[in-house]
Order: sequence, then structure tokens, then C-alpha cells
Amino acid sequence: MGSLKGRDFLKLLDFSSDEIRHLLDLSHQLKAMKHNGVPHKFLEGKNIVLLFEKTSTRTRCSFEVAGYDLGMGVTFLDPGSSQVSKKESIADTARVLSRFYDGIEYRGFGQDIVEELAHYADCPVWNGLTNEWHPTQMIADIMTMQEAFGQDLSGRTLVFMGDARNNVANSLMVVCAKLGVNFVACGPAENQPEGWLVETCTAIAEQNGSTVLVTDDVEKGCAGADAIYTDVWVSMGEPDEVWEQRIKSLSPYQVNTHVMQLASPDAIFLHCLPSFHDTKTTIGAKIAERFGLPEMEVTDEVFESAQSRVFDEAENRMHAIKAIMYATLLDEPLN
Ligand code: CP
Ligand code: NVA
Repeated sequence: MGSLKGRDFLKLLDFSSDEIRHLLDLSHQLKAMKHNGVPHKFLEGKNIVLLFEKTSTRTRCSFEVAGYDLGMGVTFLDPGSSQVSKKESIADTARVLSRFYDGIEYRGFGQDIVEELAHYADCPVWNGLTNEWHPTQMIADIMTMQEAFGQDLSGRTLVFMGDARNNVANSLMVVCAKLGVNFVACGPAENQPEGWLVETCTAIAEQNGSTVLVTDDVEKGCAGADAIYTDVWVSMGEPDEVWEQRIKSLSPYQVNTHVMQLASPDAIFLHCLPSFHDTKTTIGAKIAERFGLPEMEVTDEVFESAQSRVFDEAENRMHAIKAIMYATLLDEPLN
């Protein structure tokens, strides 16, 4: 495997299994350094810019803290505070920012936008979430599984419940296939992943000794699973009008105690967050009032249970993003 220095990080289909394993190893090493108070300002003198066209807590804070920990300068641009798209094209923005910065993070809408940005930029571009993919999230998710089950996850099974064709579900299918983890997409027909992606991932999984299953059957999908994963029923950028239909079709795929009981006794619960597991958010309260549903994709009971690893997973976003930036900007052995 060659160095990852200079590479973009746009989607996991672009990376080999060994390259993904390398990023995971780096993430664990950088996490240990952070926890042990070992300084790691390996990228001192470099500067990065974070371009967000959708909102964020974890991804933005992860890039900022990881950037500072590595010794870099960080600029954050929100949708209202730059010329991007409204007055300046993606191609021009990429060429301008490349003159100032050593790396560019982009969160936004179509994957084609981040791909165009990367095409015109002279420095690595990192995808902080698009409508189609959420690749930095995957490194954190697999790290969290490794912390629960050990480094070798081959033969383990991860089930995604709910809107099994969103950016997180798509990305999970790819990362599981690349690492030999069995993947189950469990949701109704209209929320199942696209055929081309299932075919692509099935072929990759076969090479790595694992399987891809798409099903609308909760009992079958979750039987004996090692990790049950879910995400919001309506993603950023989707119109409010879809809530009603999604609530109707995805309610049977809510992760609750019954679902966790179908899984293996030592199964863990994962969620990329943010999550609607109570009515303590504006949207959660509105949905409860409109549809009489106080919890959505996961019950509060499961979210708060001992099986839930969601806050480890959130922390791991920072370590994973640090590893991705380190690898694509320097990629020298850490010890
Ligand atoms: N999981 C995730 O990407 O969270 P944010 O939207 O808060 O960045
Ligand atoms: N599928 C969600 C993920 C948020 C981290 C969204 O795109 O809104």
C-alpha cells in the first residue's frame, strides 16, 4: 500500500481495504496519544478551511479540534459568510482556496459538488457529508465496533434500520463490504438502497468473505446482529413534506427493546447523531405534537441503554478526522 499523502477523501469506494485499515490504525493511535496527553502537532504551519453548506455539530467541531491538536490554523465558513455558489463558482472557489490552504473540508448537497471542488483544488479535499455519502463518519463507526469486538471484525454483522438509502446507510454498506463485515439494509421497499450500489458492494463483500442483505423483514434482518445502527428518517436537504410518509413507512423499523432482543446478547447500538429519541428538540417536539410520536428512529430506552455506544462513536469522529487529515497531508509513521 502506498502513502495516502495528497489524496482526496470523497467516498470510501475510492479506497482499498488496506487503506481503510491504515486509517483505522492511525485513528486508534491518535486517540491513545490524545488520551495520554502526548502532544502531536505534526502539521504545524499548515492551514485548513471548512466549508459548510449544511449545519453541523460533530463534523465541524471534529475538524476544528483535530486541526488545532495537529498544530494547524483553521478557518470556518458557514453558508452565509462566503461567496461560494451565490457569487463564485465551485471551480473558482477551489482555485482561490488552494492558494491559501493545505486542505479543504466540504459539507453540502450533491456529491458532484465535492467531486468538482476536488477536481479544481490543488490540495486534499475531505467530504464532510453530501446527500450521497458520509465517509468520515465510517472510520469513527468502525473504530467504535473495534473497541467493542476487537480489531478483526470479519464475520460480524451490522444492521442498518430505517432510511436504508441515505448517505450514512450507503457509506456503511461500502465500509462493511471492504472490511468483510456482513451488512444488512433493513427498511421498506421505497427506502432500500439503489440496485447498482447493492451489486457493487455484494461483489466487494464476496472478495472479503462477507455478505450484503437487503430486507424489509425486521425479525430476519436483526437476528443475531452484532451492531444495530439507525439514523434520522429525514435527512438534511429533504423537504419537510416527506415527514408524514416517512413516519408511516419507517415506524415499523424503529430501534426499540424488541429489536435489540433479536440481536446478539452483546450487540451494540450505534447512531451517527443527532437523534430524535425524545421531545427535547424543536423538531422532535413538533413531530410529537403533529403525529403523536414522542420518539422516532430509536426509543429513548435503547438510546440511553448500556448497549448504546453513541457517545464513544461521537468522540471517535474527532480521532478519525484527525487520522484522515494526517494521512492525506503527511502520512509518516507515528512511531
Ligand atoms: N454525525 C454528524 O455528522 O453530525 P453533525 O451533523 O453534527 O456533524
Ligand atoms: N442522514 C443524516 C446524517 C446526519 C449526520 C443527514 O444527512 O441529515
